[in-house]
Amino acid sequence: MSKEKPGVWITGASSGIGRAAAIEFAKTGAKVFASGRRAAELDRINTELDSDKISVEVFPCNVASHTNVDQTVKKILANGKIDCLINNAGITSFKLAEENSINEINDIIQTNLLGSIYAIKAVLPQMISNGGGAIINILSVVTKKTFTKSSIYSASKFGLLGYTNSLREEVRKHNIKVINVIPGATATPIWSKEIRNQFSDRMMTAEDIARVLVWAYLQKENLVTEELLLRPIEGDL
Ligand SMILES: NC(=O)c1ccc[n+]([C@@H]2O[C@H](COP(=O)([O-])OP(=O)(O)OC[C@H]3O[C@@H](n4cnc5c(N)ncnc54)[C@H](OP(=O)(O)O)[C@@H]3O)[C@@H](O)[C@H]2O)c1
Repeated sequence: MSKEKPGVWITGASSGIGRAAAIEFAKTGAKVFASGRRAAELDRINTELDSDKISVEVFPCNVASHTNVDQTVKKILANGKIDCLINNAGITSFKLAEENSINEINDIIQTNLLGSIYAIKAVLPQMISNGGGAIINILSVVTKKTFTKSSIYSASKFGLLGYTNSLREEVRKHNIKVINVIPGATATPIWSKEIRNQFSDRMMTAEDIARVLVWAYLQKENLVTEELLLRPIEGDL
């Protein structure tokens, strides 16, 4: 890590993988900008970090709104810089395609796919002018294996995979690393309590994934970890 504290903007930091990543990055000395819609949950990260005498900066943001994303990035950049964006905010519905309402379809695409693209668009100009950066996208094993009750979710994650693979080739010349992290089942609130209770011993934890994110970010300057597939040792649920 360079002497100057790197600025890390994490979307969906109020829960699960994003929350664990905010804590893990803060512990490395990074300046963490934590976003999500629930400001109170973001504030609770600092309550937890209080005893370590470290903190994150809280920037409530709904990534489904491109104006909200633009405003949030302006606010962050008024006081710092974004060296790393972690596109983590995500939702799913675990329903058959025929059961998904139009609202659910729009929400999943708007959050997982468009929200991530809005965030990338908003941070790219300053990463280019700063001479580099990292964009870490949290995809899913749905891009590697076919699951039912995941059609819209799969469309959103495949969409982001295609977008970011193309983006990676465009931004190499700017020293911007595009890192796609592809986790399997991880015990977070995206899963129902019943599923988590039943499978918690074989699921990965948010902290497991967070440690890998820090590791991927801290690789040598001239090396990019383009894709990381992370599965529970016992395989998918
Ligand atoms: N858990 C798994 O098994 C697994 C596996 C593969 C990939 N993933 C991916 O990992 C990412 C994190 O999920 P998780 O498992 O940690 O679930 P989670 O605990 O439910 O966290 C989801 C996060 O996304 C945020 N979010 C949702 N909609 C948002 C919006 N419109 N704007 C801003 N933030 C929003 C939520 O915060 P607010 O509600 O406060 O906005 C929350 O902080 C997702 O992209 C998910 O697809 C998870």
